[in-house]
Parts: sequence; structure tokens; C-alpha cells
Amino acid sequence: MSADPCSFSSINSCLTKHLNLCLNVDFTKRVLKGRATLTLEALEDRFSVLTLDTRDLKIISVSANGQEASFTLGSKHSFKGTPLEIRLPFDISRGQHVIVEVKYETSPSATALQWLTPEQTAGKKYPYLFSQCQAHHCRSMVPCQDSPSVKHTYYAQVSVPKDLVAVMSAVRDGHEMDPQDSERIVYRFRQPVPMPSYLIAIVAGALESREIGPRSRVWSEKEFVHQAASEFSETEQMLQTAEKLAGPYVWGQYDILVLPPSFPYGGMENPCLTFATPTLLAGDKSLSNVIAHEISHSWTGNLVTNKTWEHFWLNEGHTVYLERMIGRSMESEQFRQFKAMGGWKDLQDSVNTFGPNSPLTNLVPSLQDVDPDDAFSSVPYEKGFALLYHLEELMGGPEVFMEFVKSYIQMFAYSSVTTDQWKNYLFTYFKDKVDILNKVDWNAWMYTPGMPPVKPQYDTTLADACIALSQKWIKAKEQDLNGFKESDIKTLSSHQLIEFLSLLLQEDPLPLTHVKKMQDLYNLNSYMNSEIRFRWLRLCVRSKWEEMVPVALKMATEQGRLKFTRPLFRQVYTFEKYREEAVRVFLAHRAAMHPVTAGLVAKALKVEQSQSTGV
Ligand code: BES
Ligand code: ZN
Repeated sequence: MSADPCSFSSINSCLTKHLNLCLNVDFTKRVLKGRATLTLEALEDRFSVLTLDTRDLKIISVSANGQEASFTLGSKHSFKGTPLEIRLPFDISRGQHVIVEVKYETSPSATALQWLTPEQTAGKKYPYLFSQCQAHHCRSMVPCQDSPSVKHTYYAQVSVPKDLVAVMSAVRDGHEMDPQDSERIVYRFRQPVPMPSYLIAIVAGALESREIGPRSRVWSEKEFVHQAASEFSETEQMLQTAEKLAGPYVWGQYDILVLPPSFPYGGMENPCLTFATPTLLAGDKSLSNVIAHEISHSWTGNLVTNKTWEHFWLNEGHTVYLERMIGRSMESEQFRQFKAMGGWKDLQDSVNTFGPNSPLTNLVPSLQDVDPDDAFSSVPYEKGFALLYHLEELMGGPEVFMEFVKSYIQMFAYSSVTTDQWKNYLFTYFKDKVDILNKVDWNAWMYTPGMPPVKPQYDTTLADACIALSQKWIKAKEQDLNGFKESDIKTLSSHQLIEFLSLLLQEDPLPLTHVKKMQDLYNLNSYMNSEIRFRWLRLCVRSKWEEMVPVALKMATEQGRLKFTRPLFRQVYTFEKYREEAVRVFLAHRAAMHPVTAGLVAKALKVEQSQSTGV
């Protein structure tokens, strides 16, 4: 019997095959109102009761094949939400379908949605709505079987005020005046490829777009369209590289939407429409690996999906592996090695943050009673990558191992898989090398906390300059500071500058005099590349440079990417003298923050969920 510890829905007795959504976006009440119609297939005879996942939804009515059906909402679980039990007025047998229609309304505090005021947008004129369903937030937007083990197609009609545009994780299927209200437009979407609920996505805002390739457009408020088009100009080349590595791209369109700064992730692989943070707009394409990453999810994640969030590494580990293979093709093997080394450091940081004995540092953790948002870290990404890279070396190199990954994708396309299924396929595919595979310490890799049992030896060609310069700063005494020059960093690429700062962040804090000298020479305050700025500001606050505290808090609040915002708040919080200031600034911004970011930062700063702003 399969189970998903993060879902109440009955995935053993029936499966959703198709979802039809009809939604009205109400910016005044901050709710979505409408109906979700699910086509479900029974997996057993005498099937008549089903449970759907919901969270903070107001259920208005339920019908089955057009007949009214009775329903009850259970009690609310802290992160799983509220089970919705539906009793069909009839039985169906195994293999038969039933159409269940739920009329409902979302809550203004739906965790999947952020409602922005016009002031929070670039244009300042129109409100904006976006969703982020991964991992388990779709249930706060649509009543559904909110488990990645269930895949279905969808069709949607979304009504928005006529000055706004709606887009979804699907192919656009036209729009027309809302027959119920001439002040509104209905946008239609179709997603003919079966996909899990966490990939349903919706946005409404004053959006414009521009073509950047034969199957790609960038979307954003008009202020960013131009910048986004040039930053992401390599998209088609990346898609073609990915197709050579992994097989055909099955989703038709590949668009990119640049969201407002509060978007909590770097990127999100919503089918047909990757969501991206505006902090990727570095001006020099240096952060485009995030796009390579989201493109890669079109195979690993969206086609082959983790069965539950306990197997999340199958999504992210393989995607990082593919992302770096794209980097290898478009740049060089040395570049891949350099990025892999950076990833190992990110893994080390996550292991340090959770603690080396934390079960959440297992590659395959148990998520029984664990909120997936609390478990999120670099572990599934980088322990997953490290395992795949280790296997690559054992099995005969990148070409050989990439053929396995391609074959794994073909084997499990359109389905959801567990770690055991992956491992069994690995042993089947490499049946001539089973002796070598049997020497791998699988239990240590998968079910043991801390760093992996094997440390890969990556090529250091591109890292050497970063290592040398960081070591020079670490070892420098006060009197040595004159040995540093403005030109030290002139030959470093943005990637190398990021690596240089990461290396310094792994050591004890530099003396304040050192950091100030570094500013005098390198003027890192002037860097707008988000990855550079983030590390530099942490470095400054760690060395207790008081004037930089407000600058760090400004970055923490002006954008809301979790990867930056939470560590920046944490860093200031760790500086005893400014602990209260960190909490004060957080409370002042909390109401305008993304619900997931606000919740996670509250936990990091040990703020009560209910603590008020005091203003
Ligand atoms: N799917 C993730 C984002 C995500 C994971 C959202 C879990 C919610 C829950 C996305 O593909 C991702 O990994 N983004 C990274 C990009 C990076 C690893 C290149 C990010 O947001 O930084
Ligand atoms: Zn990812």
C-alpha cells in the first residue's frame, strides 16, 4: 500500500485524471472563487467515498455526476490542512470514472497565494497575484489530491479585471470578454500532459511579454520585459542542449515569467512557464544556471516525479545533475567541476545549519509529521548531486552516466517514482557493473545524516584563484593589509567572486578592519548581482560592521527570496546588539511578505506566529 505522509487524500481508492478549473480572481476580497471539477477513476469496487486535500477553503457545494453529494470537513492539521470527505450518492466500480464538482472560495490567507497591492508592484498601478504550490500548498488554492504521486491533465478558465492578464502553467488557449461582467476578461489554458498538483500555477497582473525564441517568451510587468529578454536570451540554446541530453521536450511552450521581488524562490519549474525571481537579472547572464535548472525539471521532476516529498532528491538531485551537464556543454567540464565544488560547500552549510545528526540531512528523510517547508535545504540538491557524480565516476564518466539518466527518464516518464524504483533501475541498467554498485555504501548515502561517505575530488582550475585570494585575506595580519590591491578581483568572473565570498563565509569572521579594507579596495557595496551582494552583506554583518546592518536588512526586505532573506535576517539576529532590530524590521514587513517566507523567517527569529507588529 502506498501512502503519502503529507496528504489526507484517498490515493489508494481513486485517482484524479483531469481537472477543470473555473475561477474568478477577486482583488477586493483577495479570494479566488469558482469551481474545480475533477474526473476521478475508481481503483476499487463499490467506491463511494473520497477524501480531498484542502486548506482554509470555504466549500460551498459538491456534486457528483451532476447529483448533489454530501461532504464533511475534518479538523485542521498544522501543515496538512483539512480533509474534505465526499460521499457519492451512488457506488462505482473499479475502472469507472466519476465527475466531482466542488464549488468553493479560497481564503485571503491561502498559503499558496500572495496578493500584492499596486504599491508592491513595479508599475504601482495595478494589483498582482501569484501562486507557489510546491510542495503542499496547492490544497489552499484548489481542493485536490495534493500528492505528487497523482498526475492529471487540466483545463482552466480564469476571469480577471480587464486591465490585467492571467497566465498559468499551461498552453494559452485564447481569451474573451467575461460573459458575466464586461469589465472582466476570461483567459483559457490547457495542459494536455498529465502532471502533479504542485505544478498548477496561476498569475494575474499587468503583464506584458516578448518573444525570445521559437517556443519561448518572457513575461513580466513592462518595466522588466526588456532586461529579462536579454538576461534569458540563451533559453533556446539551453532547451536544445537539454533535449540532446535528455530527450524531446514534451511541454510545447517554454516561457519564463519574472515575478515581483517577493517571489520566495530563485525559480519554479511550472510547466510551460518557469517562474523566476527578479534577483536573477544580473545584467551579465551570470545567474542563468537557474534557468538551466528549471528547464532541466521539464524532464526530472515534471515528467519523472518524486512519489512523495521524502523522495524529493530524485527531483532536485537529478535536476542539478542535468543543469550542470548543460553548463558542461555550453561552457566547459572545468566549469561543471567548479559549480560542483560550490555545491559541496552549500551542502556543508546545510549540514552545519541543521546539525550533522539531524535526520533532515538524510538524502531520503522520513517526513512523517514534518512540514516539507521546514525540511527544505540544499541537502536533496547537493547530496543528490554528489551521489550521482560519485556513480558517474564509478560507472565510466559523464557520457556513460548521462545515457543512464536519459534511459531512466524514458522508463519513468509520466509517472512518479520512489528511491527504490530508481535504484532498482540503476542496477538493471548497469547489470554488468553490479559488483561495483554493490560496493557503494547505500545506507550511508541515503539513510544516514551528515556529509556523504565519499568526498569527490573536483578539478580546482577555476577555483584556485578564489582559494588563493580568500586564503590571503584569512591569513593577513593588520600590517599585511597594504598587500591587497584593487586589481585583486579584476580578473575574477562573477562566478569566481561568489566563490571567493563563499569561502570567506566558511571561515571564522574576518576582523572588521579587514572587511572595511576590502570595501575600500573592491567596493563590493556597489555590486548589484544578488548572489554577490547577499554574501558580501553577510560577511560584513558577521564581522560586526554596524553601518552595514541596515543595508543587510534592506536587502532582506526589498526582495523576498528565501535563500537570501532568511539567512540575512538570521545573520543580523545573531549580532546580539541588533537582535531586536532584526525582529522589529521583520514585524514591520511581515504583513506584506509572502506567507511562506513570513512563516519561515518568524521561526528563524523565534517570533510567535501571532506576535503583533506593535504599531
Ligand atoms: N522546485 C524548486 C523550488 C522549490 C522547491 C519550491 C521546493 C518549493 C519547494 C526549484 O526548481 C529550485 O530548485 N529552485 C532553486 C534553483 C537553484 C537550485 C538553481 C532556487 O529557488 O534557488
Ligand atoms: Zn529545482
